Amino acid sequence: MLKGKHIILGITGSIAAYKAAYIIRALVKKGAEVQVVITPAGKEFITPITLSALSSNPVISEFFSNRDGSWHSHVDLGLWADAMLIAPATASTIGKMANGIADNMLVTTYLSCKAPVFIAPAMDLDMFAHPSTQQNLDRLRSFGNHIIEPAEGELASHLVGKGRMEEPDKIIAVLEEFFASRTVLEKKKIVITAGPTYEKIDPVRFIGNYSSGKMGFALAEACAQQGAEVTLIAGPVSLTTTHPNIQRIDVESAEEMYQAAMTAFPEADAGILCAAVADYRPEIQADEKIKRESKGEMMLHLVPNKDIAASLGAIKREGQVLVGFALETNNEATNAESKLKRKNLDFIVLNSLRDVGAGFRCDTNKISIIDRQGETTGYPLKSKQGVAVDIVNKLATLLK
Ligand code: PMT
Repeated sequence: MLKGKHIILGITGSIAAYKAAYIIRALVKKGAEVQVVITPAGKEFITPITLSALSSNPVISEFFSNRDGSWHSHVDLGLWADAMLIAPATASTIGKMANGIADNMLVTTYLSCKAPVFIAPAMDLDMFAHPSTQQNLDRLRSFGNHIIEPAEGELASHLVGKGRMEEPDKIIAVLEEFFASRTVLEKKKIVITAGPTYEKIDPVRFIGNYSSGKMGFALAEACAQQGAEVTLIAGPVSLTTTHPNIQRIDVESAEEMYQAAMTAFPEADAGILCAAVADYRPEIQADEKIKRESKGEMMLHLVPNKDIAASLGAIKREGQVLVGFALETNNEATNAESKLKRKNLDFIVLNSLRDVGAGFRCDTNKISIIDRQGETTGYPLKSKQGVAVDIVNKLATLLK
Protein backbone atom coordinates (compact mmCIF):
# COMPACT_ATOMS: atom_id res chain seq x y z
CA MET A 1 0.00 0.00 0.00
CA LEU A 2 2.89 2.40 0.65
CA LYS A 3 4.88 1.46 -2.45
CA GLY A 4 5.67 4.56 -4.50
CA LYS A 5 3.92 6.88 -2.06
CA HIS A 6 5.49 10.26 -1.36
CA ILE A 7 5.52 10.87 2.38
CA ILE A 8 6.60 14.06 4.13
CA LEU A 9 7.78 13.21 7.63
CA GLY A 10 7.67 16.22 9.94
CA ILE A 11 9.83 15.91 13.06
CA THR A 12 9.61 18.27 16.03
CA GLY A 13 11.55 18.77 19.26
CA SER A 14 10.64 15.79 21.41
CA ILE A 15 12.50 12.93 23.06
CA ALA A 16 10.43 10.67 20.80
CA ALA A 17 12.28 12.10 17.76
CA TYR A 18 14.57 9.03 17.84
CA LYS A 19 11.53 6.93 16.85
CA ALA A 20 11.36 8.91 13.59
CA ALA A 21 14.44 6.97 12.44
CA TYR A 22 12.47 3.71 12.76
CA ILE A 23 9.52 5.26 10.94
CA ILE A 24 11.72 6.31 8.00
CA ARG A 25 13.32 2.87 7.82
CA ALA A 26 9.95 1.12 7.78
CA LEU A 27 8.49 3.51 5.18
CA VAL A 28 11.51 3.13 2.90
CA LYS A 29 11.42 -0.67 3.29
CA LYS A 30 7.80 -0.62 2.16
CA GLY A 31 8.74 1.30 -0.98
CA ALA A 32 7.74 4.83 0.04
CA GLU A 33 9.81 7.90 -0.74
CA VAL A 34 10.37 9.97 2.39
CA GLN A 35 11.18 13.67 2.63
CA VAL A 36 12.02 14.81 6.14
CA VAL A 37 11.13 18.32 7.29
CA ILE A 38 12.44 19.06 10.78
CA THR A 39 11.92 22.02 13.09
CA PRO A 40 14.94 23.80 14.60
CA ALA A 41 14.08 22.22 17.98
CA GLY A 42 13.82 18.79 16.33
CA LYS A 43 17.50 19.01 15.34
CA GLU A 44 18.41 19.21 19.04
CA PHE A 45 17.03 15.69 19.46
CA ILE A 46 18.15 13.86 16.30
CA THR A 47 20.75 14.80 13.70
CA PRO A 48 19.83 15.53 10.07
CA ILE A 49 22.73 13.27 9.02
CA THR A 50 20.99 10.21 10.46
CA LEU A 51 17.70 11.21 8.87
CA SER A 52 19.12 11.96 5.42
CA ALA A 53 21.11 8.73 5.44
CA LEU A 54 17.98 6.72 6.23
CA SER A 55 15.69 8.56 3.81
CA SER A 56 18.29 9.02 1.04
CA ASN A 57 17.10 12.62 0.74
CA PRO A 58 18.51 15.87 2.12
CA VAL A 59 16.68 16.97 5.25
CA ILE A 60 14.82 20.28 5.02
CA SER A 61 14.72 22.59 7.99
CA GLU A 62 15.23 26.18 6.83
CA PHE A 63 13.41 28.22 4.20
CA PHE A 64 16.73 28.72 2.37
CA SER A 65 19.62 26.33 1.92
CA ASN A 66 22.65 27.48 3.97
CA ARG A 67 24.93 26.10 1.28
CA ASP A 68 23.78 27.99 -1.83
CA GLY A 69 20.93 30.19 -0.71
CA SER A 70 18.37 28.32 -2.85
CA TRP A 71 14.77 28.46 -1.72
CA HIS A 72 13.03 25.36 -0.33
CA SER A 73 9.54 25.55 -1.73
CA HIS A 74 7.03 24.43 0.87
CA VAL A 75 4.37 24.81 -1.83
CA ASP A 76 6.04 22.31 -4.18
CA LEU A 77 6.64 19.97 -1.27
CA GLY A 78 3.01 20.18 -0.17
CA LEU A 79 1.86 19.31 -3.69
CA TRP A 80 4.39 16.46 -4.07
CA ALA A 81 3.09 14.59 -1.01
CA ASP A 82 0.60 11.71 -0.94
CA ALA A 83 0.55 12.09 2.85
CA MET A 84 2.19 14.17 5.54
CA LEU A 85 3.01 12.58 8.88
CA ILE A 86 4.14 14.67 11.83
CA ALA A 87 5.76 12.29 14.30
CA PRO A 88 6.57 13.27 16.94
CA ALA A 89 4.29 16.32 17.15
CA THR A 90 4.91 18.53 20.19
CA ALA A 91 2.25 20.67 21.91
CA SER A 92 3.94 23.73 20.44
CA THR A 93 3.80 22.51 16.82
CA ILE A 94 0.24 21.28 17.31
CA GLY A 95 -0.68 24.76 18.56
CA LYS A 96 1.01 26.42 15.59
CA MET A 97 -0.68 24.09 13.11
CA ALA A 98 -4.09 24.65 14.69
CA ASN A 99 -3.67 28.41 14.50
CA GLY A 100 -1.76 28.86 11.26
CA ILE A 101 1.42 30.21 12.87
CA ALA A 102 3.73 29.63 9.92
CA ASP A 103 7.10 30.53 11.46
CA ASN A 104 9.03 27.44 10.37
CA MET A 105 9.36 25.20 7.35
CA LEU A 106 7.29 22.39 8.88
CA VAL A 107 4.20 24.50 9.56
CA THR A 108 4.37 26.31 6.19
CA THR A 109 4.61 22.92 4.47
CA TYR A 110 1.61 21.72 6.49
CA LEU A 111 -0.40 24.77 5.43
CA SER A 112 0.46 24.14 1.77
CA CYS A 113 -0.23 20.40 1.91
CA LYS A 114 -3.27 19.14 0.01
CA ALA A 115 -2.67 15.50 0.97
CA PRO A 116 -4.07 13.85 4.12
CA VAL A 117 -2.17 14.77 7.28
CA PHE A 118 -1.46 12.42 10.18
CA ILE A 119 -0.34 13.79 13.53
CA ALA A 120 1.24 11.64 16.26
CA PRO A 121 1.42 13.75 19.43
CA ALA A 122 4.22 13.20 21.95
CA MET A 123 4.38 15.06 25.24
CA ASP A 124 4.04 14.81 28.99
CA LEU A 125 0.68 13.64 30.34
CA ASP A 126 -0.35 17.01 31.81
CA MET A 127 0.59 18.87 28.64
CA PHE A 128 -1.46 16.39 26.62
CA ALA A 129 -4.46 16.65 28.96
CA HIS A 130 -4.32 20.47 29.08
CA PRO A 131 -7.47 22.06 27.62
CA SER A 132 -5.42 24.18 25.23
CA THR A 133 -3.73 21.09 23.73
CA GLN A 134 -7.06 19.27 23.54
CA GLN A 135 -8.75 22.26 21.88
CA ASN A 136 -5.93 22.52 19.36
CA LEU A 137 -6.25 18.81 18.58
CA ASP A 138 -10.02 19.19 18.18
CA ARG A 139 -9.39 22.09 15.81
CA LEU A 140 -6.96 20.02 13.76
CA ARG A 141 -9.47 17.16 13.65
CA SER A 142 -12.15 19.55 12.46
CA PHE A 143 -9.83 20.51 9.56
CA GLY A 144 -9.84 16.83 8.56
CA ASN A 145 -6.42 15.89 9.97
CA HIS A 146 -5.94 12.41 11.44
CA ILE A 147 -4.74 12.33 15.03
CA ILE A 148 -2.87 9.16 15.97
CA GLU A 149 -3.67 9.06 19.67
CA PRO A 150 -0.65 8.73 21.97
CA ALA A 151 -0.35 5.62 24.10
CA GLU A 152 -0.29 5.37 27.89
CA GLY A 153 2.94 4.44 29.58
CA GLU A 154 6.09 5.74 31.20
CA LEU A 155 7.05 9.15 29.84
CA ALA A 156 10.42 10.92 29.59
CA SER A 157 9.58 12.64 32.90
CA HIS A 158 9.18 9.12 34.45
CA LEU A 159 5.57 9.98 35.14
CA VAL A 160 3.09 7.43 33.87
CA GLY A 161 0.13 8.47 31.72
CA LYS A 162 -1.12 9.28 28.24
CA GLY A 163 1.32 11.16 26.02
CA ARG A 164 3.84 8.62 24.67
CA MET A 165 4.01 8.81 20.92
CA GLU A 166 2.44 5.70 19.38
CA GLU A 167 4.99 3.05 18.36
CA PRO A 168 6.39 3.30 14.79
CA ASP A 169 4.85 -0.01 13.62
CA LYS A 170 1.38 1.14 14.75
CA ILE A 171 1.85 4.50 12.99
CA ILE A 172 2.86 2.70 9.81
CA ALA A 173 -0.20 0.44 10.16
CA VAL A 174 -2.46 3.53 10.35
CA LEU A 175 -0.98 4.84 7.07
CA GLU A 176 -1.30 1.43 5.40
CA GLU A 177 -4.93 1.04 6.47
CA PHE A 178 -5.66 4.55 5.26
CA PHE A 179 -4.28 3.92 1.77
CA ALA A 180 -5.91 0.46 1.62
CA SER A 181 -9.37 1.78 2.40
CA ARG A 182 -8.87 4.87 0.20
CA THR A 183 -8.25 2.60 -2.80
CA VAL A 184 -11.62 0.96 -2.14
CA LEU A 185 -13.69 3.97 -1.08
CA GLU A 186 -12.63 6.49 -3.72
CA LYS A 187 -15.77 7.63 -5.60
CA LYS A 188 -18.00 5.13 -3.76
CA LYS A 189 -21.44 6.50 -2.87
CA ILE A 190 -22.27 6.18 0.83
CA VAL A 191 -25.50 7.13 2.58
CA ILE A 192 -25.21 7.93 6.28
CA THR A 193 -27.97 8.73 8.77
CA ALA A 194 -27.01 10.75 11.84
CA GLY A 195 -28.46 12.47 14.87
CA PRO A 196 -31.86 12.15 16.51
CA THR A 197 -35.33 12.50 15.06
CA TYR A 198 -37.97 14.77 16.54
CA GLU A 199 -41.53 13.51 16.58
CA LYS A 200 -43.89 16.42 16.84
CA ILE A 201 -46.56 16.56 19.57
CA ASP A 202 -47.69 20.11 18.83
CA PRO A 203 -45.98 23.23 17.36
CA VAL A 204 -43.78 23.63 20.46
CA ARG A 205 -43.15 20.10 21.75
CA PHE A 206 -41.64 16.91 20.44
CA ILE A 207 -40.42 13.45 21.43
CA GLY A 208 -36.68 13.23 20.87
CA ASN A 209 -33.50 11.68 22.25
CA TYR A 210 -30.00 12.67 23.32
CA SER A 211 -28.16 12.00 20.03
CA SER A 212 -25.87 14.90 19.10
CA GLY A 213 -24.98 13.62 15.63
CA LYS A 214 -21.24 13.57 16.49
CA MET A 215 -20.77 9.87 15.68
CA GLY A 216 -22.61 10.06 12.35
CA PHE A 217 -20.86 13.29 11.31
CA ALA A 218 -17.46 11.76 12.17
CA LEU A 219 -18.37 8.84 9.89
CA ALA A 220 -19.36 11.19 7.08
CA GLU A 221 -16.07 13.06 7.45
CA ALA A 222 -14.03 9.81 7.54
CA CYS A 223 -15.73 8.49 4.38
CA ALA A 224 -15.33 11.82 2.58
CA GLN A 225 -11.65 11.98 3.48
CA GLN A 226 -11.24 8.61 1.78
CA GLY A 227 -12.68 10.04 -1.41
CA ALA A 228 -16.23 8.69 -1.05
CA GLU A 229 -19.25 10.74 -2.11
CA VAL A 230 -21.37 10.99 0.99
CA THR A 231 -25.06 11.72 1.39
CA LEU A 232 -25.49 12.66 5.03
CA ILE A 233 -29.10 12.55 6.20
CA ALA A 234 -29.06 14.49 9.43
CA GLY A 235 -31.71 14.85 12.08
CA PRO A 236 -31.89 18.11 14.06
CA VAL A 237 -28.31 18.76 15.27
CA SER A 238 -26.15 21.83 15.72
CA LEU A 239 -23.13 20.47 13.83
CA THR A 240 -21.65 21.81 10.62
CA THR A 241 -20.13 20.06 7.62
CA THR A 242 -17.49 21.56 5.39
CA HIS A 243 -16.08 18.70 3.30
CA PRO A 244 -16.99 19.16 -0.38
CA ASN A 245 -17.68 15.42 -0.75
CA ILE A 246 -20.54 15.58 1.76
CA GLN A 247 -24.01 16.39 0.50
CA ARG A 248 -26.16 17.08 3.53
CA ILE A 249 -29.93 16.57 3.72
CA ASP A 250 -31.52 17.96 6.88
CA VAL A 251 -34.63 16.23 8.17
CA GLU A 252 -36.64 16.37 11.37
CA SER A 253 -38.88 13.33 11.76
CA ALA A 254 -38.31 9.60 11.30
CA GLU A 255 -40.71 9.68 8.34
CA GLU A 256 -38.63 12.40 6.62
CA MET A 257 -35.43 10.45 7.33
CA TYR A 258 -37.05 7.30 5.92
CA GLN A 259 -38.07 9.07 2.69
CA ALA A 260 -34.59 10.58 2.20
CA ALA A 261 -32.83 7.26 2.92
CA MET A 262 -35.13 5.23 0.64
CA THR A 263 -34.49 7.73 -2.18
CA ALA A 264 -30.70 7.81 -1.78
CA PHE A 265 -29.89 4.17 -0.98
CA PRO A 266 -30.71 2.47 -4.33
CA GLU A 267 -27.93 4.54 -6.03
CA ALA A 268 -25.45 3.96 -3.20
CA ASP A 269 -22.68 1.41 -2.67
CA ALA A 270 -23.17 1.40 1.10
CA GLY A 271 -25.35 2.71 3.91
CA ILE A 272 -24.31 3.42 7.50
CA LEU A 273 -27.25 3.90 9.83
CA CYS A 274 -26.02 5.78 12.84
CA ALA A 275 -29.11 7.86 13.59
CA ALA A 276 -31.05 7.37 16.79
CA VAL A 277 -34.43 7.13 15.10
CA ALA A 278 -37.52 7.45 17.28
CA ASP A 279 -39.34 4.15 17.25
CA TYR A 280 -42.70 5.83 17.95
CA ARG A 281 -44.48 9.06 17.11
CA PRO A 282 -47.67 10.60 18.47
CA GLU A 283 -50.60 9.38 16.40
CA ILE A 284 -52.08 12.88 16.38
CA GLN A 285 -49.98 16.01 16.03
CA ALA A 286 -51.86 19.05 17.29
CA ASP A 287 -51.91 22.11 15.00
CA GLU A 288 -51.99 24.45 17.95
CA LYS A 289 -50.17 24.47 21.27
CA ILE A 290 -51.84 22.07 23.69
CA LYS A 291 -52.99 24.05 26.74
CA ARG A 292 -52.42 22.58 30.17
CA GLU A 293 -55.47 24.44 31.54
CA SER A 294 -57.87 22.85 29.05
CA LYS A 295 -56.26 19.38 29.07
CA GLY A 296 -55.49 18.56 32.68
CA GLU A 297 -54.06 15.04 32.69
CA MET A 298 -52.90 13.99 29.23
CA MET A 299 -52.35 10.71 27.38
CA LEU A 300 -50.24 10.48 24.23
CA HIS A 301 -51.16 7.66 21.89
CA LEU A 302 -48.01 6.53 20.07
CA VAL A 303 -47.78 4.60 16.83
CA PRO A 304 -44.65 2.86 15.48
CA ASN A 305 -42.40 4.59 12.94
CA LYS A 306 -41.00 2.76 9.94
CA ASP A 307 -37.75 0.94 10.59
CA ILE A 308 -35.33 2.58 8.14
CA ALA A 309 -32.58 -0.01 8.62
CA ALA A 310 -34.96 -2.94 8.06
CA SER A 311 -36.51 -1.23 5.03
CA LEU A 312 -33.10 -0.68 3.42
CA GLY A 313 -32.11 -4.23 4.36
CA ALA A 314 -35.16 -5.48 2.48
CA ILE A 315 -34.24 -3.65 -0.76
CA LYS A 316 -30.47 -4.17 -0.48
CA ARG A 317 -29.10 -5.52 -3.75
CA GLU A 318 -26.10 -7.75 -4.38
CA GLY A 319 -22.85 -5.87 -3.76
CA GLN A 320 -24.38 -3.18 -1.52
CA VAL A 321 -23.19 -3.10 2.08
CA LEU A 322 -25.44 -2.06 4.95
CA VAL A 323 -24.07 -1.17 8.37
CA GLY A 324 -26.22 -0.59 11.44
CA PHE A 325 -25.65 0.52 15.00
CA ALA A 326 -27.02 -0.96 18.20
CA LEU A 327 -27.27 1.25 21.25
CA GLU A 328 -27.88 -1.02 24.20
CA THR A 329 -28.19 -0.86 27.97
CA ASN A 330 -28.31 -4.61 28.72
CA ASN A 331 -27.89 -8.01 26.98
CA GLU A 332 -25.79 -6.04 24.55
CA ALA A 333 -24.35 -8.75 22.29
CA THR A 334 -27.59 -10.77 22.06
CA ASN A 335 -29.67 -7.70 21.19
CA ALA A 336 -27.13 -6.50 18.63
CA GLU A 337 -26.91 -9.90 16.93
CA SER A 338 -30.69 -10.08 16.71
CA LYS A 339 -30.82 -6.59 15.06
CA LEU A 340 -28.05 -7.59 12.63
CA LYS A 341 -30.16 -10.52 11.39
CA ARG A 342 -33.58 -8.88 11.60
CA LYS A 343 -32.49 -5.84 9.59
CA ASN A 344 -30.34 -7.79 7.08
CA LEU A 345 -27.18 -5.83 7.94
CA ASP A 346 -23.64 -6.80 6.91
CA PHE A 347 -22.23 -5.78 10.25
CA ILE A 348 -23.44 -3.96 13.32
CA VAL A 349 -21.61 -1.50 15.54
CA LEU A 350 -22.49 -2.09 19.17
CA ASN A 351 -22.11 0.69 21.73
CA SER A 352 -23.36 0.33 25.28
CA LEU A 353 -24.51 3.05 27.65
CA ARG A 354 -22.91 0.95 30.42
CA ASP A 355 -19.45 1.95 29.10
CA VAL A 356 -18.20 5.26 30.44
CA GLY A 357 -17.44 7.64 27.58
CA ALA A 358 -19.59 5.72 25.08
CA GLY A 359 -22.82 6.56 23.30
CA PHE A 360 -24.72 9.85 23.21
CA ARG A 361 -23.23 13.34 23.16
CA CYS A 362 -19.67 12.64 24.35
CA ASP A 363 -16.64 13.07 22.07
CA THR A 364 -15.56 9.46 22.56
CA ASN A 365 -17.08 6.05 21.94
CA LYS A 366 -16.31 2.42 22.70
CA ILE A 367 -17.55 -0.07 20.17
CA SER A 368 -17.56 -3.71 19.14
CA ILE A 369 -18.20 -4.76 15.58
CA ILE A 370 -20.24 -7.93 15.06
CA ASP A 371 -20.31 -9.40 11.57
CA ARG A 372 -22.63 -11.86 9.84
CA GLN A 373 -20.34 -14.78 10.70
CA GLY A 374 -20.93 -13.93 14.36
CA GLU A 375 -17.36 -12.75 14.83
CA THR A 376 -16.93 -9.90 17.31
CA THR A 377 -14.04 -7.40 17.31
CA GLY A 378 -13.72 -5.13 20.34
CA TYR A 379 -12.05 -1.72 20.21
CA PRO A 380 -10.74 0.48 23.05
CA LEU A 381 -12.32 3.83 23.99
CA LYS A 382 -11.38 6.33 21.26
CA SER A 383 -12.39 9.71 19.92
CA LYS A 384 -15.47 9.44 17.67
CA GLN A 385 -13.19 10.34 14.76
CA GLY A 386 -10.93 7.39 15.62
CA VAL A 387 -13.95 5.09 15.96
CA ALA A 388 -15.21 6.30 12.57
CA VAL A 389 -11.90 5.36 10.95
CA ASP A 390 -12.16 1.82 12.43
CA ILE A 391 -15.70 1.45 11.07
CA VAL A 392 -14.72 2.80 7.64
CA ASN A 393 -11.73 0.43 7.48
CA LYS A 394 -14.08 -2.49 8.22
CA LEU A 395 -16.53 -1.25 5.58
CA ALA A 396 -13.70 -1.08 3.04
CA THR A 397 -12.91 -4.78 3.55
CA LEU A 398 -16.50 -5.65 2.53
CA LEU A 399 -16.74 -3.21 -0.37
CA LYS A 400 -13.70 -4.82 -1.98
O1 PMT B 1 -25.13 11.17 17.95
P1 PMT B 1 -24.19 10.91 19.10
O2 PMT B 1 -24.48 11.78 20.29
O3 PMT B 1 -22.74 10.99 18.67
O4 PMT B 1 -24.44 9.42 19.62
C1 PMT B 1 -24.13 8.34 18.79
C2 PMT B 1 -25.18 7.23 18.91
C3 PMT B 1 -25.20 6.72 20.34
C4 PMT B 1 -26.57 7.78 18.55
C5 PMT B 1 -24.75 6.12 17.88
O5 PMT B 1 -23.47 5.64 18.23
C6 PMT B 1 -25.74 4.98 17.88
O6 PMT B 1 -25.68 4.03 18.65
N1 PMT B 1 -26.75 5.05 16.96
C7 PMT B 1 -27.87 4.11 16.87
C8 PMT B 1 -28.88 4.44 17.94
C9 PMT B 1 -30.11 3.56 17.87
O7 PMT B 1 -31.15 4.05 17.62
O8 PMT B 1 -29.88 2.29 18.02
P2 PMT B 1 -31.06 1.14 17.99
O9 PMT B 1 -30.39 -0.02 18.63
O10 PMT B 1 -32.31 1.65 18.57
O11 PMT B 1 -31.30 0.92 16.44
C10 PMT B 1 -30.68 -0.12 15.70
C11 PMT B 1 -30.40 0.32 14.27
O12 PMT B 1 -31.60 0.54 13.56
C12 PMT B 1 -29.62 1.63 14.16
O13 PMT B 1 -28.72 1.51 13.08
C13 PMT B 1 -30.69 2.67 13.88
O14 PMT B 1 -30.19 3.77 13.12
C14 PMT B 1 -31.67 1.86 13.07
N2 PMT B 1 -33.08 2.28 13.17
C15 PMT B 1 -33.76 2.19 14.34
C16 PMT B 1 -35.10 2.52 14.39
C17 PMT B 1 -35.73 2.95 13.21
N3 PMT B 1 -37.03 3.30 13.21
N4 PMT B 1 -35.04 3.04 12.07
C18 PMT B 1 -33.74 2.70 12.03
O15 PMT B 1 -33.09 2.80 10.98
